[in-house]
This record gives sequence, structure tokens and C-alpha cells, in this order.
Amino acid sequence: MAWRPAGLREKQQQSLHVSGKVAAVASRIAYYLGTFTNAKYQIISSNISCSLTHEHPVGLSGTKLACGEGGCGACTVMFSKYDHLQNKIVHFPANACLAPICSLHHVSVTTVEGIGSTKTRLHPVQERIAKSHGSQCGFCTPGIVMSMYMLLRNQPEPTMEEIEDALQGNLCRCTGYRPILQGFRTFARDGGCCGGKGDNPNCCMNQKKDQTVTLSPSLFNPEEFMPLDPTQEPIFPPELLVGDAPGRGWAVRWAQVRMPGAALGIKDRPATSGFHFFPGIEMKFKNKLFPLIVCPAWIPELNSVEHGEEGISFGASCPLSCVEKTLLDAVAQLPTHKTEVFRGILEQLRWFSGKQLKSVASVGGNIITASPISDLNPVFMASGAKLTIVSRGTRRTIRMDHTFFPGYRKTLLGPEEILLAIEIPYSREGEFFSAFKQSSGREDYIPKVTSGMRVLFQPGTAQIKELALCYGGMADRTISALKTTRKQLSKSCCRTCVQAWQEELQLAPDAPGGMIEFRRTLTLSFFFKFYLTVLQKLGKVDSEDKCGKLDPTFASATLLFQKDPPTNVQLFQEVPKGQSEDDIVGRPLPHLGAAMQACGEAVYCDDIPHYQNELSLRLVTSTRAHAKIKSIDTSEAQKVQGFVCFLSVDDIPGSNKTGYFNDETVFAKDEVTCVGHIIGAVVTDTPEHAQRAAQAVKITYEDLPAIITIEDAIKHNSFYGSELKIEKGDLQKGFLEADNIVSGEFYIGGQEHFYLETHCTIAVPKGEAGEMELFVSTENTMKTQAFVANVLGVPANQILVRVKRLGGGFGGKETRSTLVSTAVALAVYKTGCPVRCMLDRDEDMLITGGRHPFLARYKVGFMKTGRIVALEVNHYSNAGNTLDLSEAVMQAALFHMESCYKIPNIRGTGRVCKTNLPSNTAFRGFGAPQAMLIAEQWMSEIAVTCGLPAEEVRRKNMYKEGDLTHFNQKLEGFTLTRCWDECLASSQYHARKSEIDKFNKENCWKKRGLCIVPTKFGINFAISFLNQAGALILVYTDGSVLLTHGGTEMGQGLHTKMVQVASRALKIPTSKIYISETSTNTVPNTSPTAASISTDLNGQAVYEACQTILKRLEPFKRKNPSGSWEDWVIAAYQDAVSLSATGFYKAPEVTYSFETNSGYLFNYFSYGVACSEVEIDCLTGDHKNLRTDIVMDVGSSLNPAIDIGQVEGAFVQGLGLFTLEELQYSPEGSLYTRGPSTYKIPTFGSIPIEFRVSLLRDSPNKKAIYASKAVGEPPLFLAASIFFAIKDAIHAARAQHKDYNRKELFRLDSPATQEKIRNACMDKFATMV
Ligand SMILES: Cc1cc2nc3c(=O)[nH]c(=O)nc-3n(C[C@H](O)[C@H](O)[C@H](O)COP(=O)(O)OP(=O)(O)OC[C@H]3O[C@@H](n4cnc5c(N)ncnc54)[C@H](O)[C@@H]3O)c2cc1C
Ligand code: FES
Ligand code: FES
Repeated sequence: MAWRPAGLREKQQQSLHVSGKVAAVASRIAYYLGTFTNAKYQIISSNISCSLTHEHPVGLSGTKLACGEGGCGACTVMFSKYDHLQNKIVHFPANACLAPICSLHHVSVTTVEGIGSTKTRLHPVQERIAKSHGSQCGFCTPGIVMSMYMLLRNQPEPTMEEIEDALQGNLCRCTGYRPILQGFRTFARDGGCCGGKGDNPNCCMNQKKDQTVTLSPSLFNPEEFMPLDPTQEPIFPPELLVGDAPGRGWAVRWAQVRMPGAALGIKDRPATSGFHFFPGIEMKFKNKLFPLIVCPAWIPELNSVEHGEEGISFGASCPLSCVEKTLLDAVAQLPTHKTEVFRGILEQLRWFSGKQLKSVASVGGNIITASPISDLNPVFMASGAKLTIVSRGTRRTIRMDHTFFPGYRKTLLGPEEILLAIEIPYSREGEFFSAFKQSSGREDYIPKVTSGMRVLFQPGTAQIKELALCYGGMADRTISALKTTRKQLSKSCCRTCVQAWQEELQLAPDAPGGMIEFRRTLTLSFFFKFYLTVLQKLGKVDSEDKCGKLDPTFASATLLFQKDPPTNVQLFQEVPKGQSEDDIVGRPLPHLGAAMQACGEAVYCDDIPHYQNELSLRLVTSTRAHAKIKSIDTSEAQKVQGFVCFLSVDDIPGSNKTGYFNDETVFAKDEVTCVGHIIGAVVTDTPEHAQRAAQAVKITYEDLPAIITIEDAIKHNSFYGSELKIEKGDLQKGFLEADNIVSGEFYIGGQEHFYLETHCTIAVPKGEAGEMELFVSTENTMKTQAFVANVLGVPANQILVRVKRLGGGFGGKETRSTLVSTAVALAVYKTGCPVRCMLDRDEDMLITGGRHPFLARYKVGFMKTGRIVALEVNHYSNAGNTLDLSEAVMQAALFHMESCYKIPNIRGTGRVCKTNLPSNTAFRGFGAPQAMLIAEQWMSEIAVTCGLPAEEVRRKNMYKEGDLTHFNQKLEGFTLTRCWDECLASSQYHARKSEIDKFNKENCWKKRGLCIVPTKFGINFAISFLNQAGALILVYTDGSVLLTHGGTEMGQGLHTKMVQVASRALKIPTSKIYISETSTNTVPNTSPTAASISTDLNGQAVYEACQTILKRLEPFKRKNPSGSWEDWVIAAYQDAVSLSATGFYKAPEVTYSFETNSGYLFNYFSYGVACSEVEIDCLTGDHKNLRTDIVMDVGSSLNPAIDIGQVEGAFVQGLGLFTLEELQYSPEGSLYTRGPSTYKIPTFGSIPIEFRVSLLRDSPNKKAIYASKAVGEPPLFLAASIFFAIKDAIHAARAQHKDYNRKELFRLDSPATQEKIRNACMDKFATMV
């Protein structure tokens, strides 16, 4: 998001603090802001229901909009208000995207700009995240800064656990989280950073320096950090300690009332709603209007907390954070037996989204929402919580039982009733309670199954008196397993209960939410855990009970999932002794944009201030996968306020054909080929109106047969081009020689890029000769320029494309950004006005495609020793509805299909499937991770079949220096074996393997797995002409240098590295060099910033440009050898010598041919090895990443901080790919997973608890600038070590339950989600459902 300027920008940027105060002003809402002495009012919106991020009232662009649904935390701000009930000022974090502006009545809002600035002084939080390398693209950074600031505001000396909790609601797609945690750890009172002076062996700074090889663990120096001084924080504005006033605005009324009576007076009117969230979300995503919103936040009875005889009573409007804090205090103070239920609720709240949400979401709202997957309602129901319900003149108290939710999203409340309070009971002696929640990932707040379970024993006996078993996620409402409970009460035996269960908790095969087997198994697993927990609490472990002897190896099944404090070690080779202090190459220089990013000052595309007559564009897309367009009716859209025009194919002056292979359309003509295919666009005055107008466009279709999956495509022979093939040796002979042959099928799901900044373009007409300027979030300025020129039918020289920075790209903005840019350019052409479009997250995910899913059919022949003699793999990828880069992706897959192994007889084929999904595209790794995962799949099966340790089989087959690959390239400078040996040693692989075996013997329901995996990644564009780059250097007479090159900055630190290269080449400090942007009028015809090769190409071009300048300055240096850079520059100028120069670089020609399987292909290879250990919970499918050790060869690192950041960021993105991220489509090809609530990327809690990364020392690479190596993509695949460690753990689980497993080899497709892990751990429960 960006808060737009309205003439006050100057003022606010000076102010330390932005305050919000809403008042009714002539049917508009006024927003108060300014310094306390210099207050100003500004009318910001007539739409009182819009959220903070939807309007841009104060010209501050720091707070970002990345999802709009409370799931990413990029919009985190601090709210402060005077709490009349507590009689004190309270500060709490909130998601600005969910906060209706009216809710800011008497609330002070502090955004990231309010706490520090590069112009004055950075706040310590901002300084530490920047200097600890915790900001790459920076789009998540302001939100993370505010979450941390918020914590420190309330708790200046937090624990590490509190820091992790505070960040639970924030996502980052670039950094891999480690550097952020390490930077913030310096605030922690435990495990806090001692700067390497303490005794703690786990301290990040306390790793021993290896004197012989000058390895350093210090990526930053905490001694440089400013101390935190809580007395310096902005105060709460006294003006806001005043009474309230109701608001009224466009189409919606906001009632902020102080008495329950007043709420009741309006509650019975239609379509009212209680608090902030769902109105906002439903208005945004479901196009709903709520004419009246009642805000109960100020009613004392609805917000009070009372400790009673039987339990603690919470007013229905109490935020969940208040419930959490109160229960935590109670648990600390009350006897344990009284707090069983409280601890269950706290366990659910522990995994309940972030602090931002818990601070504002009310307990009553959660109950009345009546979500079938609520994780609190089963707990309340099982505990027998009491609800007080009032209406005018009546008041009743009921127990929440199985009748409370009579249907889907229904409660017993009448339309005129409101929930006043909920009383959560104390537990009694002999009463036990457990709560469970299982989601896709541990920190995923959308559960699959939730449960609350309670048992009460007759005093002093094992006789059950009461039993309650309640579930969410098993029906269209929260349910209670009544029949089972009755059976259990009569029989009192675990086995009876499990059998009753099976019958009672049925799910139809097509039940919403899918995962039927998993969900049913979970219900049994939860009960079993509850059963064991109760026995344990009764002291019955290792004793005989009615259900049999309890094995002590079952005990760990009762342990709750714990987050252990993270530890990390990062090692890199220091610069050689004697390297000049001014020579910054090889040093961990922080990303040059990091400080600005941390202060919210960095400018992203949508932060560019609005132009005076600017219009908004919204795409209109197909809802059908394959259909004829029968009609487009825009009549309703035209009635929407602010409507300007509808754009369709008929408005295109140039060509509607676009895309790399001219097989795409700007707007669909007559036929659509995927859900999300762009049919047209509406242009209006504001984004809100554009959204309404787009939704009002009516399109009728005639459906045609659609192909969705790879299997469909194979069946219907639906492919792009012909089969690609690489073949070497004699396959038939190889298979004949083999002692063993294994064949199988393996599927790898796709991946959404999930860059935090969605696609964005602003296009501005220049008024002359059709000139147009575009500001675009793209990795590909050249194609953007070319495609826009093509659609408009103008020469490229009239189109200027400018890119300042991207909020992440990962390949997703290499070609797909042009979908938006071409439409926006067309709108400018048609209207003559500047036009802006930033996709919402759901649109972005729907339209722009991602990583290709792959299906592989493989057959591998090998000897008893594990040596491979023959391999055949047929690869299929799901390319979607256009070719885009899919053929190149498949080629890359074939080039990496043997991974790091020498295979004498090999054949790989590739088919690119044409389907009716949105076109898939480039994504970090570009086909190689899929192919290498397939390779490790058959490799792991060879090891199991031969009964040999997997690491031994991998090592046995590994290439050696000088070997030829399957595409006949000689491996030179082969450092992989060094990486392997170092990783094996540093991870203490063999010792840990024995420990794991011991752990697995001692634990029946928790298993650990270990795996070490190598990677080899070829560096080059396979298309020869793309391996070129240009640079432009301008030297000004004050000695400052403006540098431009062909690459775009998307967080990967390319600009920082280019400045380092120029600094060394010119021998001037980095402070004299500046890169402003990437643009088509400075460096033309640039290759996309992709293939990990941008530093190699652009770095060499920058170097060449610097050499030209140096050559021109040489005579002046000779004349004045003791002079300074500035002296020589000015002398050259005065001698009329040109001080601008271009540089150009062309890499060696690619001559590889598929026909002959020969020729030069890759410039060199990057290598790395990772060893990972995981622990799985066999009953739930949860897994913990315990430890990862990586050794990565990045040549002579240009910047170890950036390189380690790339290694970790890529690894964590790979971890998402292989274990978490799952795109789900309807059978009709419509994407279900369109935001962070349904699509799970790694969070702070996902990363390995112990994360050790070292850069291979002494490995200069003679093929790239200053002996460095490419690093962006190669490490991603190393996350396969986690996938196969999980598989290793599942093997151990299956071995334990041999009776239920007939085969040793089993299929585990990627990603290894909890569902797949649970289902693969075949045991008695899994076989019962
Ligand atoms: C990002 C995100 C993460 C989430 N994570 C979880 C999670 O992990 N587990 C989970 O269970 N839920 C989760 N939720 C759901 C969340 O808990 C509820 O949306 C929230 O508690 C609702 O509170 P609210 O105060 O905003 O209610 P509102 O949205 O204002 O109200 C919800 C409904 O309840 C009615 N209502 C509210 N108060 C009263 C009252 N006193 N009397 C009568 N009717 C009333 C309203 O009219 C409305 O219909 C999540 C939601 C989001 C957006
Ligand atoms: S933008 Fe608000 S949480 Fe994502
Ligand atoms: S730095 Fe966190 S999303 Fe890019």
C-alpha cells in the first residue's frame, strides 16, 4: 500500500508520529494528523468502511499492502489508545489492511515512518534489521520492524521466545528469516548477543575463528548498534483523550456505542456486523456492502474480565490477546488442576495467527462467526463454557453444547440477540483437558481439524463420569462426538472408543476441504494423544490399564509441539590480509537499500505519488478454463461511480498477439483458455470503483472441454512442440547388466512465487509523439518495452520503461509482468491519462502462474553395490495455456536430470504439456530443482533396495574432476567433493545418524530422519545471445558516479554488488557511487535479470565501463600522481575528456545442440551440499526442521553477507516448495489457493532450529567477475535434504509398524505436507479409516 500525498507530505515526513482521530465532518471522515503542536485535519475518505491500506490519507508509503487479508503482516502498524476500562494507554499491533478507518476513532496510529528515518536517526529496530542483513527486497521490512517495535514498546527486554511470537504474523519471502532473528536477538535478554564476548557456545558471534583459513562468523558487529532507549519513544497525543462520536459515510454507517442497550437498538437491523474483520474482508473479496457496522469496542460489559466462582468471564468484545494474557496469568497463579481448560485454550491461541490479529479479533466474534474450523469453539464446547446472551429486556445464560451451532455458520442466537459474555470454567480435581489443532504448517492459522477433549473421573477411581469430545473441521459446524462419548462412558476402554469413532466421524469423499483420509486419521490420532496424555497425568505410564500395558516409548507422543530457540552459525572466508580497507569486495557490506527499506522510505512502484488525473485499471478475467466467449455486457459496470471505459481487444491499435512466442493475447478474443485469462479491463477513477466495475462486467460463455492435469494432457496428447531428448551410452545394455531395476512415478507440485509486492505498472503519457513512460515492477525491461510497443503499434524508442526496485521477483516478473503492463499502456493510449494497476494478491495468484509441476516416470538399473548403470526418465511438465518459457524450463530439467551422479547409460525425455491452467513460467531454479528431486528420489530407492546407507550410494556415484556430464561437458574446477566432505564432517553426520537410530528405537510415535544431498547447477542462459550485458557510467565533476546496468534490483543485492565492483575497479569508496534505477533509455536491449547470472554479466560490463573511464583518466593521474579522484575528474573535464562510458560484455558462445548432444553449454557450475535432520510426529504429520548444515561454493564471494542471504533465502524457499506449499485447483481448473490464508509459505517458525551455513573457502572461479560465482538459484535445491530426511523418518515409522506395511519402497510426492507424512506413516490408526 501507499498512503498518498495530499499536499501534506512534507509535514508528515518531519513528524515523529502520526495520529489518527476520526470525526464526522459533513458526511465525510476526517483524519487528524501532524505533530502535536501543529495539528491539521485532512479529509481522507468518504468510505468509512475502507481499511487503512485502501486509502492513502497521509502521504506515507512505508506501510505495505501485500495480501489485504491479515495474513502477511506487511501492513503492521501500532495502534495506541486510551483504554477507559483499564484507565491507561495501551499500544498494540494491528494489520492496517483489516482496520476500517472508522475504527481509528480516538486511536493514534504509528507507522514505520513515525519511529525513525535515514534523514534524522534510525530507530534501533530499523538499524539492526538493516545492518544484520535482514532486509533484501524490503517489502516485508516495515511490517517486521513495526512488529518488533511493538514488542519492545511493551517489553523492552524481551525473551527470544517473545520475539518469535511477536513475528508470528509476518511473512518474508527473501531472507529465510535467520538474519532477522539474529539481528533482533541482540534485543533479547536471554540468548541475547554478547558480541562474541560471552561463554555461550551457541552464541552467533562466539564461533571460533579458524586462524589458518581466516574463516569469520561475523556478518555484522553488534557493538556498532545504538542502544534501545525506551524513554525516547513518541508519547500518546493528549488530544485523543476525549469522548467519541459516531461516523457516517458513503453507503455505510458506523456506530460506535458505549452501552449494550445502544448496540441492541441497532443490532436487529439487517446486515449489521460487529467488528472490523469480516466486514472488511467480505466487502473486499465478496463484494458485499454492510449498511451499518456496530462497534462494540467501547461498551464496558462487552469488554470486562471477571474472575468468578466457577470460572473467568470475558466480555464478548474482549480481544483474544486479552483472553490469552488473562489465562496465562491464571495458569501462573492457580493450582494446576484448576487450569486444564485454560491451558487447552492457550495451546490453541499459541498457533492462532499473529499478535496483530489477536490484538483486535474478539472472542465473541470468533464464536458468532461459527466457523466450522474455528479452533476455539470445540474447546469452548468441550469445556462446557457458559454464554450470556442478551436482547432488549431479556438475558439468558446457556452452556455451549452440541446444539449451539445448528447449521453452517449459524448459532442459537436470535436476530435481536447479542452475546454479552463467555465464562470459561475452572477444571476440577480428576478432570483433564486437551486441545489439538492441525493445519498445513505449524504456524498456519487455518486448521484442517481442531479438537477439544475433556474427561472427568469419579473421585479416586478410574471410572469416567463425564466425557466430551468436540471437533472442528469434521462437519459444516463444530460438533460433539456424542455416540462415542456414550459408548465410552459405558465401556470405558480406548479400543471401544476408537471403533465407535470410526462409525461416528464420517466424512463424505467429496466433503469440502478434501483430505478425507488425513482428517479422519487425525481424529483418531488426537484421541489417542488425549488418551495417552490423561494416562500420563494419572501417573499410569509404564503400568497396566484396562487397555493394555502402556509402552514408555509412547510417552513422547504426548509432548506438545515446541519451538526451540533458534541458533545459527554462518562462516565465510575473510578478505586476504593486506587488502586495502577501501576495497570493499569480499566484505559483508549491507544491502545499500536496507536502511531506507527499514524506514519505509524505499520507493516501490506503487509508492510513486499519484498523478493529478490518474486513473485506476482493473483486469476482467475468465471464470472458465476453456470456453467460447458468447457475450460481454458492461452496462452495469458503466453505472459504477467513476467509470471511464472498458477496454477489450477492439481497442488495440497494434497487435493483440504477445508473449515470448507470440502465442498469447493481450485480451482474449472469442475464446478463453484458462481461469484468469484476461478478457478486458475497466478503467475508473479509484481502485475501489474499478473493483466494483470489474465485478459488474457480465460475461457469458459456452464451455469447451478442458485439460487441467498432466495426466489429462498425456491422455489427450496435448503437448507443446515435440519431445526433447538427451541420450548417452547404451541404455538397453545398461539395463541388461544391472543386478536390480527399480521403476516408479513421482510428482512434484508447482509453486507460487509469492513475492510480497504483487505486479504493478504505472504508465504516463508524455504528450508528444505517442511517447509513454512506464514504471513497472519487472525483471525484464526489454520485453516490457517491446510488448508495449507491439500492442500500441509504435516503435520501441517511444516507450520508456523504468524500474527502481522490485518487492521480490524470483522469476515471476520475468515475463508475466507484461500481462499488466500491456493492458495499462493501452488504457493510457485510450484515455490520455496516467493509469495505475497493482494486482491484489488473489488476482496475482490467479493470473500469473508459477513454477511448473512435474511428473516423472523413471527406471533405474544398478548393481548390488549401489553403482548405477542405466537410467531412463520421462519428464512431463504442466506448462499451462501458453508456451512462455516452458520449453527452456524443460531443457534445464533435462540438463540437471542426473543431478551430481555419473551415469554411463542414460536417456531423458521431456514433454511440455499444454493445459488450461494459467501459463507457468520461470521460477528460481528453472526446472532444475524438479529434475534433481526426481534424481534423489530414485537414488533413495537404490539405497533402500541395496540395503546400503544412502550417503554411501550417493558418494559412490558422484562425479569426479574431469568427468563428462550426460550432455558431454567436462567438469572442471569440480569442488563438489570438497563441499561433500566438509559438510559430512561439520554436520557430524555419522555420529548423529547413530543418535537418531537410538532416538527412533526409544520413541514409537516420533521419528527422526537425516539426509545429506548434493547439488550441481549449470550457469548460463542456454540461449547464447542472452548472455550479454551493458552498463553506463557517468562521472560528474564533483567526483560522484552514477552507475546504470542492465539488471534490476529485486532484493538479491545486485546493485550493491555492482557498486562494489565499480568501487574496486575505480578505486573509489562506494559512497561516491550511486545506482538510481534500471531503464531502457540508459542501457538498451537488456537480458532479463534471471538465471543467477546477472552479477556475472552486468558485473563484467560495469568493469569494462570503469576501465574505459580509468583509461581516459590515466594521463591526468600521471600528471598529478598524488592527486585525488576528484582532482583527476575535474582535470579531465577541463581538458574536454568524456566522462561517460558504456561497458559491454558477451559471455562465451553457447554451441550445445540437442541433435548431437555436444557443444559448449554452461560457463561453469555452482556446487553445494546440505545435511538436514527432521523430526516427525507420526500421529499428526507435523514435522520439525531440527538442523541444517550447508556448505556452498560461491567462488570468491563478492559479498559474503549477500551470498549467505541468497543461500538461506533460496534454501527456505526450497523448503516451502518441497514440504509446505501446495497449489490446489478445482476439477474445473479454478485455483482455490489465492492468498496466505490458503497457500502457506515458510514462516519464522519453519526454518531449521539450528541453521549453519558456510561458504567454501579457497575456491576462486576464473570464469566470473573477481573470481565469484552465481548464487541466486543453486542453493534452492538443497532443501531436498529436508524432504528426504522426512522420508527417512517415515521409513523408520513404517519399519516400526511393519504389520501394516507390505512394501519397503513407498511413494511420497512433493510437497511432503502433513497430510502426506501422516498418510505415509502407515499404522493401526491409518488403516482403520
Ligand atoms: C488472518 C486471520 C487469521 C485467523 N486465524 C484464526 C485461527 O487461527 N483460529 C480461529 O478460530 N479463527 C481465526 N480467524 C478468525 C477470527 O478469529 C475471527 O475472524 C475473529 O475472532 C472475529 O472477531 P471480530 O471481533 O473481528 O468479529 P467480527 O468479524 O466483527 O464479527 C464476526 C461475526 O460475529 C458477530 N458478532 C460479533 N460480536 C458479536 C456479539 N457480541 N454478539 C452477537 N454477534 C456478534 C458479527 O455481527 C459478525 O457477524 C482468523 C481470521 C483472520 C482474518
Ligand atoms: S497486507 Fe495486511 S496482512 Fe497482508
Ligand atoms: S525482504 Fe522480506 S519479502 Fe523481501
